[in-house]
Amino acid sequence: MIIALSGFMGCGKSSIGKELYEKLETYDFIDLDAFIEAEEGRRVSEIFSGEGEAFFREKEKKALGEIVEEYRENGKNLLLSLGGGTPVCSECIEILKKETLCVYLRAKVSTLVENLNGEADNRPLLRGQGLQERIETLLSARCKAYEDCARYIIDIDGKSYEECTEEIIRTTNLK
Ligand code: S3P
Repeated sequence: MIIALSGFMGCGKSSIGKELYEKLETYDFIDLDAFIEAEEGRRVSEIFSGEGEAFFREKEKKALGEIVEEYRENGKNLLLSLGGGTPVCSECIEILKKETLCVYLRAKVSTLVENLNGEADNRPLLRGQGLQERIETLLSARCKAYEDCARYIIDIDGKSYEECTEEIIRTTNLK
């Protein structure tokens, strides 16, 4: 089984993914951004500034397809932390719905603003003025896609990574 963690930048996908990985003994762990960075030999921010978002989305779709195919074939369990924009692409949505149990880590704008303050260097889509407005605009454009992919929704506001991890395990009956 592939458990995919989705949600907006700063909701804790990678950190919660790592916590879950430590708790679930039979799962591998892949962070999709880290996978793309390893394949490309450069940071996501460099891909964005070099070739732009559309190029990155192609890499992201290809990486998701490759990972899903590999784990379908090897039959192993996988925890997969997605990028915040992975469900923006309709083919990715189809893959996530069909091939994974997708958990949406839902956060309020205020939580995301707090978590993302000072993070714009690593997140090209948040550069420039008006962090809160950027988050509001992107989140409202994406929230339907996040919900559409999700088998489960976990509200993360005011919770520690540990609490979110426990809630995911309980809600999805993973243990
Ligand atoms: C993106 C989120 C980032 C990364 C890229 C684009 C997005 O991942 O994939 O900068 O479109 O929301 P994180 O959500 O892990 O920051």
